[in-house]
Amino acid sequence: MSSTAKGSAKATVTVTLDGSNRSTTLPLVSGTIGPDVVDIRKLYGDLGVFTFDPGYGATASCESRITYIDGDAGVLLYRGYPIEQLAEQSDFLEVAYLLLEGDLPTPAQFDTFSRGVTRHTMVHEQIRRFYDGFRRDAHPMAILCGVVGALSAFYHDSIDINDPKQREIAAFRLIAKVPTIAAWAYKYSIGQPFMYPRNDLGFAENFLYMLNAVPAEPWQNNPILSRAMDRILVLHADHEQNASTSTVRLAGSTGANPFACIAAGIAALWGPAHGGANEAVLKMLAEIGKPENIPAFIREVKDKQSHTKLMGFGHRVYKNFDPRAKIMKETCHEVLAELGIKDEPLLDMAMEMERIALEDDYFVSRKLYPNVDFYSGIILKAMGIPTSMFTVLFAVARTVGWVSQWKEMVEDPSQRIGRPRQLYTGATERDYRPISDRG
Ligand code: CMC
Repeated sequence: MSSTAKGSAKATVTVTLDGSNRSTTLPLVSGTIGPDVVDIRKLYGDLGVFTFDPGYGATASCESRITYIDGDAGVLLYRGYPIEQLAEQSDFLEVAYLLLEGDLPTPAQFDTFSRGVTRHTMVHEQIRRFYDGFRRDAHPMAILCGVVGALSAFYHDSIDINDPKQREIAAFRLIAKVPTIAAWAYKYSIGQPFMYPRNDLGFAENFLYMLNAVPAEPWQNNPILSRAMDRILVLHADHEQNASTSTVRLAGSTGANPFACIAAGIAALWGPAHGGANEAVLKMLAEIGKPENIPAFIREVKDKQSHTKLMGFGHRVYKNFDPRAKIMKETCHEVLAELGIKDEPLLDMAMEMERIALEDDYFVSRKLYPNVDFYSGIILKAMGIPTSMFTVLFAVARTVGWVSQWKEMVEDPSQRIGRPRQLYTGATERDYRPISDRG
């Protein structure tokens, strides 16, 4: 741990190399909650060995004060506050402040922060032209990734990562502009005019407005739907060192500018094992077609040769239940009731699938439970959001988490470039032979 770390060394772990008389004593460091970590930084120097942990399942890659997960107990805390309380009582913009600044805002702080975000919702007018370069059938994640990366070509006054003011402006810009860029990616794909942001609306309302409104007609906000959208954004806002956040931190550790780092995070989020899962859940349910086909699908999932996964199930960290999934399920019922959807075959299928899977030894023994994405897709579909936009929406929410984690890393004086090592299993040194001597 760094010298500035809050974590405290309370004990030691001694590692001895069998068959030699070499050993080293390593500090065991405690955080405020969660498992202790063994600080292995001097292991290579003392014993000449690395640690091996593909997938980083047993590695704390950094020290962080932002988000805490207890996967066994199904606990998720943002800056110490339980996700259930935030989803129920707070809203996305306040959660954004909390993640970035470390505490809930006073009314005056919140006012300044909201104005900071809303002042940056528009994008440079020339960015509109980028869209014309994309095919109409481009996946909106492809557009989002490209256009967010391109922000660094426009906002030269907020890419000096060593200037705290510039970091703050970059944070505002990213949180404010990503929804605009995301909504325009959708509008482009359906050939409708881009809707400029409206700063008189709340964050979630404005996003729904930019997605659904058209210039020819007045737009009516539905408070139940904007509340549901806000809750989806809160639930997805951060999730400690997941694949996309680790990508943002790794890219940022090189000193790359924040817009480039967030574009890297968007790319990592896209995969079906990560943020792409909400889209994959709906595809899976559509392919299964009807409840009678569920048992056959479950058999296929259990057959390892098939490489079929039950999308929306399982999590690297949650091995009991995903607290976000519980809130999503409730929200799903609220949204369907508001929209008067009494009979939604996809929801019926999802609930039947959940029931069967939770009784099946394959899933029970592997501690596989529904994750946040199992129900979010059904909510979004009911709200009229197209499937291809699901992961984009996840990116809109996660941008604040990425930015908070990036900022924390840049401000950590002990920060170094991320540079993992490897267990090399390739050829040992050999001499080059001219092609005429080969074969
Ligand atoms: N369906 C069927 N089997 C599964 C699933 C699943 N969804 N997830 C894990 N398993 C099996 C896996 O094959 C392995 O079996 P065995 O021990 O026989 O080899 C066992 O459960 C342990 O799984 P793992 O692969 O070690 O788990 P992991 O921590 O590496 O992967 C995961 C976590 C989320 C990538 C994986 O569960 C998965 O692919 N789930 C489906 C995709 C999904 O819903 N992703 C969204 C995650 S939540 C949103 C986010 O944070 O991005």
